[in-house]
Amino acid sequence: MRKIFLVLLITLLTAPLVRSDEGMWIPILIEKFNIEIMQEKGFKLSAEDIYSVNRACMKDAVMIFGGGCTAELISPEGLLITNHHCGYSRIQSHSTLEHDYLTDGFWAMSREEELSNPGLTVTFLKYMKDVTDEATRGVKKRMSEDERSEVIENNIAEIVAGATEGNDYSAFVRPFYMGNQFFLFVNETYRDVRLVGAPPSAIGKFGGDTDNWMWPRHTGDFSLFRIYADKNNEPADYSEDNVPYEPEYHFPISLKGVEEGDFTMVFGYPGGTSQYVPSYHISMLTDYVYPRMIELRGAKLDIIKEAMNSDPGIRIKYSSKAAGISNSWKRWIGEKSGMERLGTIEKKLSFEDDFRNWVDQKRKRSKAYGDILSEYKVLYDSMKEYYLVNSYSTETLGRRGVEAISLAGTFMPLVNAVNNGADEETLQGILDRLSSRLQRFFRNYDRDTDRELFVAMMELYGQNMDEKWQIDAYKELYKACNGNFEMIADDIYSRSVFTDRDKSMQFVNNFDKRLMGQLEADPLYKLAAGVSEMLQGTVREKYIELGSQISMLDRLYMKAQLEFADDEVLWPDANFTLRVAYGEVGGYEPEDGVYYTHYTTLEGIMEKDNPEIYDYDVPDRLKELFYGKDYGRYAQDGKMPVCFIADNHTTGGNSGSPVINAEGHLIGVNFDRAWEGVSSDLMFNPEQSRNISLDIRYALFLIDKFAGAGYLIDEMTLVE
Ligand code: ARG
Ligand code: GLU
Repeated sequence: MRKIFLVLLITLLTAPLVRSDEGMWIPILIEKFNIEIMQEKGFKLSAEDIYSVNRACMKDAVMIFGGGCTAELISPEGLLITNHHCGYSRIQSHSTLEHDYLTDGFWAMSREEELSNPGLTVTFLKYMKDVTDEATRGVKKRMSEDERSEVIENNIAEIVAGATEGNDYSAFVRPFYMGNQFFLFVNETYRDVRLVGAPPSAIGKFGGDTDNWMWPRHTGDFSLFRIYADKNNEPADYSEDNVPYEPEYHFPISLKGVEEGDFTMVFGYPGGTSQYVPSYHISMLTDYVYPRMIELRGAKLDIIKEAMNSDPGIRIKYSSKAAGISNSWKRWIGEKSGMERLGTIEKKLSFEDDFRNWVDQKRKRSKAYGDILSEYKVLYDSMKEYYLVNSYSTETLGRRGVEAISLAGTFMPLVNAVNNGADEETLQGILDRLSSRLQRFFRNYDRDTDRELFVAMMELYGQNMDEKWQIDAYKELYKACNGNFEMIADDIYSRSVFTDRDKSMQFVNNFDKRLMGQLEADPLYKLAAGVSEMLQGTVREKYIELGSQISMLDRLYMKAQLEFADDEVLWPDANFTLRVAYGEVGGYEPEDGVYYTHYTTLEGIMEKDNPEIYDYDVPDRLKELFYGKDYGRYAQDGKMPVCFIADNHTTGGNSGSPVINAEGHLIGVNFDRAWEGVSSDLMFNPEQSRNISLDIRYALFLIDKFAGAGYLIDEMTLVE
């Protein structure tokens, strides 16, 4: 006992104080804060192997993929892997009725068959640097917030100009710790990225929204792309003359598999977390905003899902939309219940008590930090209302609301241009944009489904939006039908130009200023314009004002929390910059008496198999491979591994991130988090927060055995 105590004491004294597996850490500070802990946990490499500017390292193989995902290089010839849901829109864009790659999958059997993707880019980090001193030079204590921002903005512009002078890199400076620290990021972006392979959706999206955010999971969530460069290995626009990019580093792939307790590390681009907010922020979300938003999206999903189940055509049109609506909806539900279970508010409140006591101990502190929490309280009391009005209006009658209303909203620039007497050329430009928008919109539109959405959204808006926030156009309609929107929906939907492809196209193609009256009298247009006017007006003003007051307090509160933490190192909230998370493979207890193992296998896919349920319809070819146990060298103990979980702290944006073992080899691709711990964006729970990864061996098996694209395996570096 004494000995254990002594060992404990010694590690406590020597190791930097970092909460074990929590956190998304800054690559250049790993050496200082984390590497010892990582090595204690089993990591066999050095901090320089992760991030270095002097030699090839892991960071040279990790990229931002498209707008919001991560990807990693897995061959010396520019081959990369990311999630299926990250490549989804690209796969969809190549799909037609004859070549339905979403349904059937796509595999290039040679370089010539790879498909180019205009607009798709991948971005590498060349280097990063702490520029806090340069960015805040000239900032004075007594400056107003606006003055301070201006000084910093100017400094940043200079830093960025310096970093990009004489090279083709791009650069940005981003605040960390709520604006208490600033880092420069210098990036290189490649613009010719081609689709190489994707499994059918029945594998890449297996389990669909039903299994999303859940464990046990069986989704083969990956797709393959290849980066092309010019003859000098430099970024270039798409050209037939381009050649596969030769990276400085690519990940070797491990076939050894994972065991409970193994070290794992995730290296990617987490989008955003809110770890240091006050209790008021949490209660704004869980007690006020989430319940209403959950009800709202739930109502939408009920309508859309029923329509999708009744008609395969509607399924194709709405599946991507439904996935988008469902993803945050489900996360909100998980976050809310997770925070209740964890007692997040109570924990925050008790932290705030301790914080107050600490502040009160010293006069100087109390002068600097004494009012933070009481000021937060006042601000959040107003903020919660504006936050809700903004989100709720947007999700019902605004940009993300009833589809025909949101389409109507896109005609506002036309109306404004006409009213402001814009010239013919400007008008034609707007009309051209509208015309292509209409093409896209009606490709995935079903009027009856949207009509039902209209009725449901109008009813919920009336019930949940305080009268003082209800727009006039809504009140008028309400009066006209006495609140019975079902009664007027048919009439509105048959008369409006926004519910019919031909009508709206005709309107745009034969546009005449005399038609403006018709547009402005359209009830759907009136709703869209009314909401936009309200949100862009007083609501926005107040929202921005409160937002900037809160972020000022955030900066101060963060500074105080850093001091309060003393020796403990706090990780900065995620902000879509490259981060390292580490931890270990392990199952968890979702509820009393139940234990979830750390991995799933193909057996589980067969258990879920049900041709009647879209999300669980296992492809025949996969069944054949299962019955033949034809797993090649990718099996473990005679079974085909599919997914595994670990306690790496991850969030949205980490999709597609490499999951790396103690040797630095790729063992998986991150794609989700497990339900019970999903509130880790606000508070990490080591008992239940788990990231979900695709086992890389399942991807290799699919490429090799399912798709017969073994030539791709040949270019990878496998470690047996
Ligand atoms: N939950 C994961 C993420 O946040 C996966 C989302 C895509 N899958 C889906 N079924 N909607 O992005
Ligand atoms: N699926 C998420 C993404 O697209 C990752 C899951 C998470 O939020 O942790 O980035």
